[in-house]
Amino acid sequence: MRACLIKWCLLLGLLGSANCFVTTTPNSYDTIVVGLGSAGCTAASTLAKAGKKVLGLEADNRIGGRVKTVPFGDGVVEVGAEWIHGTVGSRIYESAIKNNITVLPQELDIQVYMSNGSTGNAELVNELMYYCLDLMDHPPEKPEALGHFITRKFMDYIKEKHPEVLNDKDFITEFLEMMNLLMNDYEASNDWNDVSAQTKYEYLGGHRYMSWHRHGYMTFFEILLNTYNNGPGLPTLDIKLNKEVTLIKWPKNSTGQVEVICKDGDVYKANNVIVTVSLGVLKERYSSLFSPPLPNEKVNSIDKISIGLVGKIILSFAEIWWRPNKSYTFLWDSADEKQYSKDDYWLTKIPELSLPMGSSNTITVWTSGDRTKVVSIGL
Ligand SMILES: Cc1cc2nc3c(=O)[nH]c(=O)nc-3n(C[C@H](O)[C@H](O)[C@H](O)COP(=O)(O)OP(=O)(O)OC[C@H]3O[C@@H](n4cnc5c(N)ncnc54)[C@H](O)[C@@H]3O)c2cc1C
Ligand SMILES: *[C@@H]1O[C@H](CO)[C@@H](O)[C@H](O)[C@H]1NC(C)=O
Ligand SMILES: *[C@@H]1O[C@H](CO)[C@@H](O)[C@H](O)[C@H]1NC(C)=O
Ligand SMILES: *[C@@H]1O[C@H](CO)[C@@H](O)[C@H](O)[C@H]1NC(C)=O
Ligand SMILES: *[C@@H]1O[C@H](CO)[C@@H](O)[C@H](O)[C@H]1NC(C)=O
Repeated sequence: MRACLIKWCLLLGLLGSANCFVTTTPNSYDTIVVGLGSAGCTAASTLAKAGKKVLGLEADNRIGGRVKTVPFGDGVVEVGAEWIHGTVGSRIYESAIKNNITVLPQELDIQVYMSNGSTGNAELVNELMYYCLDLMDHPPEKPEALGHFITRKFMDYIKEKHPEVLNDKDFITEFLEMMNLLMNDYEASNDWNDVSAQTKYEYLGGHRYMSWHRHGYMTFFEILLNTYNNGPGLPTLDIKLNKEVTLIKWPKNSTGQVEVICKDGDVYKANNVIVTVSLGVLKERYSSLFSPPLPNEKVNSIDKISIGLVGKIILSFAEIWWRPNKSYTFLWDSADEKQYSKDDYWLTKIPELSLPMGSSNTITVWTSGDRTKVVSIGL
């Protein structure tokens, strides 16, 4: 496909076409995009659709980054991102609708189990959980730790709506710990008091949990890159996988070209570079990745914004033994919790189990924060 295109362009070049990209030197592009996750693929495809000559360099052997759909169970599961959080004004949601792809809402309707194995009061827990989650839309005006803020509002709420619950100190402790874990799942944090409740983040309107179900989130990348339904791709976009970028030499003034050097020694040049590696990669590499070094304000931001962990353990079963269309959560009695050893402690810190919509016989177990590093399942 590319070879054909170059020949076609050469021909046009011979005929005197002025704006054909083949007139630039080999390995030279209008823009190089480093990293082909959702940010990189969006940037690369937007430019390529505008006719720019673009090179995408991806260290991994696949595109998608933190989006990864894999066949599992009787369908597909999402190892990375799973839901479109809000539909109104979401370019991801709109891309699905424009291509006649159905995405389905997933409700958070939660089943509750106590650590002694009995079922908990799901109706009450759902009501209180939705109350706490809605608080995220009404952040406080003054700085306040997230846990402190939610606890304060929650106590006011039960005083007014469920005064009888005030006597059940264990339930309050266990519920708030469950909310703490759920918030850590949202924020990739270790503890909800490590996060500020104050935020300028605005949620998109519409349903907040839209699933690509059996299509898989990777369909979004096919749409972006015009390969969905055997589409022909984007003619002015080159993608190179297994290309880890080790050095970006950028001109301080904006007139020179940028040089992008890969681990295997290959060098590419362009007028622009867009770097979309994650904050985690930047933290590890910013001092060696850029020449000249990044300006101080960028280095400060990279150092000071923290990046956290969210993990999923996805299990498949021969038979479906659970109730479909539910999520599951656990309230841990402190004495039950203490029975777990240091190695197994993460088991008592699971915020929820969710059911993948792309595969009916699978369950996703969520973990978050530093605990994620010690997850090990004796399989
Ligand atoms: C378990 C999990 C669940 C999530 N669930 C959701 C969800 O339900 N909904 C949602 O909206 N978001 C979710 N997210 C967040 C979402 O996945 C990310 O915000 C998004 O995918 C980030 O895209 P990105 O392009 O910024 O970064 P990435 O996807 O990390 O892309 C960066 C790319 O750069 C590449 N790269 C790194 N270093 C180099 C190098 N030196 N040279 C070349 N390439 C390099 C990487 O391999 C990667 O492909 C979830 C994340 C996780 C981890
Ligand atoms: C989506 O469906 C409508 C109505 O059937 C059709 O007109 C349109 O061409 C379809 N779009 C795509 C991208 O397939
Ligand atoms: C389990 O614990 C709950 C309170 O945490 C209690 O109400 C219930 O009776 C206990 N069930 C069993 C079987 O011990
Ligand atoms: C800008 O950088 C280029 C290449 O690094 C150099 O050739 C040029 O002289 C510089 N221009 C100015 C105005 O500094
Ligand atoms: C679960 O949800 C799916 C789609 O949202 C629906 O088709 C199915 O009937 C539901 N199953 C039950 C048991 O409610």
